[in-house]
Amino acid sequence: MNPGKFITLDGVDGAGKSTHLDFVAAWLREQGKEVVVTREPGGTPLGESLRELLLHRDMDPDTELLLMFAARQEHLARLIWPALARGAWVVSDRFTDASYAYQCGGRGISVERIAALETWVQRDFQPDLTLLFDVPSDVAEARRSAARAADRFEREADSFFNRVRTAYLARAQADPKRIQVLDARQTIEMLQADIGKLLQGLQ
Ligand code: TYD
Repeated sequence: MNPGKFITLDGVDGAGKSTHLDFVAAWLREQGKEVVVTREPGGTPLGESLRELLLHRDMDPDTELLLMFAARQEHLARLIWPALARGAWVVSDRFTDASYAYQCGGRGISVERIAALETWVQRDFQPDLTLLFDVPSDVAEARRSAARAADRFEREADSFFNRVRTAYLARAQADPKRIQVLDARQTIEMLQADIGKLLQGLQ
């Protein structure tokens, strides 16, 4: 049995990535894959408890970073790695690129701290493909304000999200093979056609 592949979806709040998660899972299932859909922070019972704290409790930025990686450790050890080992494909709504974007870009924590935790928790494990949904900040902001009650991150100022977006795009530039930037202003049909091609390339 070949190990499965790990696909992550990321982008600033309001880029619309969640709409595409179901499409990715359905596309892969049509190819006969076992697919596990999950999210960060979260994905395990303990990780979901940490998510509640992360999204709603005030805390120091370093505490936020450490809890993100604590949830990620649990997620990898108890869900992602076992699923990949049995041949399932795992699709995650956010992963470590979000820590570089939000905790480094947004909160201003040094890249070295994040990289140290990444190495601790992941060793050299990385997603096989990351779909980065990108939209100009004003579009994302309009989508955020139209959405339901905001969590702790969604209440941040526009300048925070500008820094988050810049950090995501810098990650994509540094690793253009893994991180594919998609212009999330396109129609859903156009985006899905692009996503289908990228998934085809992974087979
Ligand atoms: P999100 O996945 O966007 O969920 P929803 O669509 O239900 O709002 O929310 C998770 C939030 O967590 C999001 O604002 C980004 C933040 N986050 C980080 O700051 N760092 C991380 O490492 C991860 C995984 C998420």
